[in-house]
Amino acid sequence: MNRAQNASQPAKSTLNLGLKHRNTFGFDVSAELAYEITAPEQIPGVITEVAERKMVWRVLGGGSNVILPNVLPGATLLMNIAGQEIIATDKEASFIGVGGGVNWHEFVTWALENHFHGLENLALIPGTVGAAPIQNIGAYGVEIADYIDYIEAFDTMAHAFVTLSKEACQFAYRDSYFKQNPNRFIVTKVVFRIPKTWQARIHYADLAQQFANNPNPTPEDIFLAVCKIRMYKLPAPNVIGNAGSFFQNPVIPNEQYETLLKKHTSLVSYPDAPGKRKLAAGWLIDQCGFKGQRMGDVGVYENQALVLVNHGGGTAQDILGLAKCIQDKVHREFGVSLEIEPNIL
Ligand code: EPU
Repeated sequence: MNRAQNASQPAKSTLNLGLKHRNTFGFDVSAELAYEITAPEQIPGVITEVAERKMVWRVLGGGSNVILPNVLPGATLLMNIAGQEIIATDKEASFIGVGGGVNWHEFVTWALENHFHGLENLALIPGTVGAAPIQNIGAYGVEIADYIDYIEAFDTMAHAFVTLSKEACQFAYRDSYFKQNPNRFIVTKVVFRIPKTWQARIHYADLAQQFANNPNPTPEDIFLAVCKIRMYKLPAPNVIGNAGSFFQNPVIPNEQYETLLKKHTSLVSYPDAPGKRKLAAGWLIDQCGFKGQRMGDVGVYENQALVLVNHGGGTAQDILGLAKCIQDKVHREFGVSLEIEPNIL
């Protein structure tokens, strides 16, 4: 269906829609009222309607970074805007516009197949293209911010479509202007700038190990290696429900880091902003003995302590209960606070 046809149709709405298959934790939840957004032009009407009815609302992409309650009150906008086009190309780069509802990994695969290289380190990250810039998804030394040119969104405060340059998006580690202004912008399209020159980025420990005997991997080699590592460390959501990393890697002052390191010599950490150090939350949780542990229907993944899982039948309450146990123990052991990464709705 093209945009012109779509535009003439209002968004389809459904009462009490089950979302078990639209959240990667696989929680058995339902949305009081769901709107299926297939074209940007449908958004102003939906926003006007929910405002008139004084309903709370939120946007749901792939549901891969959210913790949903049993019932989602008010309106849920299911972001299904499709489409992918090469907008322009110059000597240095190609510019590709992608609809907010496109599956992230499908876009990464398409880019690789069409010789747009650079996104391969971000393969297999669950979720949609529209959700990806909100938390500035990143993996294996690359962040989506590195490749964004501009973003088109509906600004619900101004009730108008806006274009935000990369600078205006204020990207930082798992953070952006969108995340700082929750529920204000609805991302409809992301325009990527993919440089024509390409360099392998395999400095990240796990990747470096894969290429110990191959210092000149191709983008395809990296794509396959990233898929292999992720498939080992992160359970496939359709097999075991999860939302990727459940906690952010905490950033602490250097002095605190030095003190911790004296006591815990194998502490895993990365350099961060001047005067600061980023700790591997997975290591902290692992040291507390949580890896592979189960608490009722939820648990900590056996191959990666940073991933909390739903073994089936778990709820938001269960997962938050487990998260609290982990946060308390890590705080007692290391004096470090862990922040929950996915959005709690
Ligand atoms: N570690 C352990 N035990 C564990 C897990 C990790 O000791 O159970 C230690 C290991 O030494 C490991 C280190 O912690 O080398 C770091 O772990 P890992 O390499 O698995 O990466 P991470 O820092 O835990 C981050 C991102 C991931 C991203 C990977 C790869 C965050 C919160 N997480 O994980 O992002 O895929 O790096 O770049 O920044 C996500 O955000 O959902 C996500 C999966």
